[in-house]
Amino acid sequence: MADTLVGASVWEQGIYDHLLSHVEAERGILESYREAAERSESAAFRYLVELIIEDEIRHHKRFSELAEALRSDAELSSDPPAVPRLDWYKADHKLIRELTDALIGQEKADAKELERLRRELKDVKDTTMWVLLVKLMELDTAKHLEILNFVRHHISL
Ligand SMILES: [Fe+2]
Ligand SMILES: [Fe+2]
Repeated sequence: MADTLVGASVWEQGIYDHLLSHVEAERGILESYREAAERSESAAFRYLVELIIEDEIRHHKRFSELAEALRSDAELSSDPPAVPRLDWYKADHKLIRELTDALIGQEKADAKELERLRRELKDVKDTTMWVLLVKLMELDTAKHLEILNFVRHHISL
């Protein structure tokens, strides 16, 4: 998997190698989950493993994009990188701030709704996986807020 970047610094090459080893590791993890899903007759187990597989596919894609982004930076490529560079300087800050604030408001309301729903489902928390699914959506909501807060922080600089 060793791959030498043209004109990269030692730091860039090191990070690049590290990212590629993650791409490989993610591929292995994904294979283990696929095998696990195939080996059980339990629809519940397969469903839950499928949820993880969706994430692992995304992780694999994200690591590949990071490696590609680093390659285009190191090699001074003129192609648009797989991960866009922060281009706030050419954006309408006011518009992004307004859009982001509205979305943050929605996510916070969503977080409250999910918490309420999770409490309502308390009675079936050991007989169904519903509470787990709601919890996972709460974690997603925290992730969405993390993304929006990143934008909000950088756009106000
Ligand atoms: Fe992963
Ligand atoms: Fe969300």
